Amino acid sequence: MEKKVMDSTETWSRRRLLSCTAKLASAAAGIAIGSGAIQSWSPRTSFAKTLKWPWPYKKIEPGKAARIGYEKYYEGACCYGVVNAIILPLREAVGEPYHSLPLDAFRFGHAGVVGWGTICGTLLGCGLVTGFIAGKPGESILNEVIHWYIETALPAYRPSSPRTNIKHTSRSNSPLCHISAGRWMKRESVPFDSPQRAERCARLVADVAAKTANLLNEWSEKKFISGHEIPVEIYRLPAQSNCTDCHGTKVPEIPK
Ligand code: HEC
Repeated sequence: MEKKVMDSTETWSRRRLLSCTAKLASAAAGIAIGSGAIQSWSPRTSFAKTLKWPWPYKKIEPGKAARIGYEKYYEGACCYGVVNAIILPLREAVGEPYHSLPLDAFRFGHAGVVGWGTICGTLLGCGLVTGFIAGKPGESILNEVIHWYIETALPAYRPSSPRTNIKHTSRSNSPLCHISAGRWMKRESVPFDSPQRAERCARLVADVAAKTANLLNEWSEKKFISGHEIPVEIYRLPAQSNCTDCHGTKVPEIPK
């Protein structure tokens, strides 16, 4: 009895599957005929090309990445800006699969991930592109970019025609949007929703995009040297080095 039920279910589902497949195929043919592209319509090959990972890389001029990043910040914020700064030159130089990547999907990184002040969106953007391009070694590139980001007085980029003038740079000592943006806002004495703060983050996008392009170029020439361990290996706790910023002088002991 049980066997029969299973058989009939299987038959039913197989039949249903066949009819679905037929419908899909005719719909696809309709699209192909509609666009006059029946010859070039080959989902299998283009899909396989997209899925082969990591993706091919050709060297990017860091200054170009910086210029694109600065402009794109004003279109879709920090994470989107860095992703565009690296992916748009690769669309020109490499083509697919970069054309198929929907860049609007990376807008969510703004203000430390939809406004939560966690990882700076520029660093998130760096991690996304190094992940697509370099795979696992991309983590070492991201680690170096984060080290450089927390230690360097930023923003350093000078746009040829700035939207707004700003006076200060600051050293974030943290990869967190909240701390990084907050420290700079304090130095410049401006609120978060000011044109100056936006300009600072646009220039930061340019800086991170150029740094990422630089390290990806070194990596592609097999000249990239990873100089730092990742924090979880140092502290035996996922952490950042600025313990006293949050804990004051009473940094808790890490349980052994
Ligand atoms: C961005 C802020 C921040 C930084 C930087 C930070 N911590 Fe923390 N840490 C916290 C908060 C908040 C808690 C939760 C405290 C609580 O629950 O009382 C915590 C908890 C801990 C705990 C768990 C035990 C406890 O007493 O709460 C340890 C251990 C710890 N931190 C060690 C460190 C060390 C070591 C560093 C530097 C390598 C560090 N933290 C950096 C914010 C931070």
